[in-house]
Amino acid sequence: MSAPTRQIHLNAFLRNVGQHEAAWRLPETDVKAVTDIEHYRNLARIAERGKLDAIFFADHPVLKDRSQDRPWDSLDPFTLIAALSGVTSRIGLVATASTTYNDPYGIARRFATLDHVSQGRAAWNVVTTANAEAAANFGFEHHPDPQERYARAAEFLDVTFGLWDSWDDDAIVGDKDGGTFVEPSAIHRLDHVGPHFRVAGPLEIPRSPQGRPVIFQAGSSEPGKDLAARYADAIFTAQPIIDDAQAFYADVKARARAFGRDPDTVLILPGLSFFIGGTEEEAFAQRETFENLTLPTYGLAQLKRITGIDFTGQDLDAPVTIPARSEIAGDQKSRHDLVHRLTSTETLTLRQLLRRLSAGRGHRIATGTPEQIAETIVEWFENGAADGFNLIPPALPTSLETFVEEVLPILRAKRLFREDYEGRTLREHLGLERPAARERAPFATAAE
Ligand SMILES: Cc1cc2nc3c(=O)[nH]c(=O)nc-3n(C[C@H](O)[C@H](O)[C@H](O)COP(=O)(O)O)c2cc1C
Repeated sequence: MSAPTRQIHLNAFLRNVGQHEAAWRLPETDVKAVTDIEHYRNLARIAERGKLDAIFFADHPVLKDRSQDRPWDSLDPFTLIAALSGVTSRIGLVATASTTYNDPYGIARRFATLDHVSQGRAAWNVVTTANAEAAANFGFEHHPDPQERYARAAEFLDVTFGLWDSWDDDAIVGDKDGGTFVEPSAIHRLDHVGPHFRVAGPLEIPRSPQGRPVIFQAGSSEPGKDLAARYADAIFTAQPIIDDAQAFYADVKARARAFGRDPDTVLILPGLSFFIGGTEEEAFAQRETFENLTLPTYGLAQLKRITGIDFTGQDLDAPVTIPARSEIAGDQKSRHDLVHRLTSTETLTLRQLLRRLSAGRGHRIATGTPEQIAETIVEWFENGAADGFNLIPPALPTSLETFVEEVLPILRAKRLFREDYEGRTLREHLGLERPAARERAPFATAAE
């Protein structure tokens, strides 16, 4: 019996020794693993053994306050993912890079090269950088406002796509007798002049195996969703409640259609943190262990980053409500809405809210047996809330290993997740076409 056409797509969101803010305090955690390449090689191998679609690393080019409370993204995501391409052969490789604190030529060059060296597994998670503090590291007076950041991001993507398309696939003729390595008319200038960038092009790198590396994006605000719907192949989002996930799914697919795209080629991957036990009680006990190790100082600093409100000194065991965003301006608008929604749909004490955010800053948390975790995944997948998930393992490597060994076989038995990789490239794993190059001007120099 052939597998249903629509399959669940799974990405692993990796962060040093675990996504849970207290994972490093677990007795079994080796804190030195934070900068140990062997640790990351092991994680990549586990994910590839599970036949996951991709692994992914975030990017925050700043050491945040309260970073004494937990390890953060301690290695440059692009360099790390490039290193992992050498110990894997099929799994997709997603690195995050900012459109606010980079330039298009540099980014186009790096990701096209990664696509060549990984034989077609490169992907770029496009962010405008959520952390205002990063501005000071790049000589900016201020962190540009979201509107400006997203306007720059759209032009940035246009230029990057144009550079990735600057070589025809068959530009290299390699005519040794005739002495022609590349056919000049098969390479194209860009001559882009725009409000943010002037880029002549072409790129010096031949068109890569996937044509263009896969684009991921995680915008949830109005400009964020528009950018995602217009350019992204896959979209990460934080949705703790299925109704909101269904609304986000329908909204972004409709925007993609409005941009003339086939909505089935835009995959929505909500985040999913998970605590897996032999019984439900065991799973909740495991979660309790993590949450008992959380440091309120870190939780309060994170809540302040999201909402702009400092709850330091407040009674942790008193109920808390987060006002709607219109009254208060934090920098992470959609995450603010999420926390406001959480405290308006449930009565939570400040401590409970901090614990809820400790596993993944507001992403969905599933706690239970492998069957129960698989049930949640299938429910969202089959009810218009997700095309797959961005897995957020609380502790690494253990949570990822347990998921691969205990949850994936259940999804396979339902024929909703691949037994093995059919293709070689990330686009093939995601069921996405190889994009044709856009229309371009010839590169041929004036001399000819
Ligand atoms: C799964 C996921 C991963 C993200 N990774 C990063 C990251 O690495 N760096 C970053 O600056 N922002 C990251 N973000 C934040 C988004 O880029 C975006 O700023 C956030 O979702 C808020 O959306 P908005 O900018 O449209 O308000 C991530 C968001 C999600 C959901």
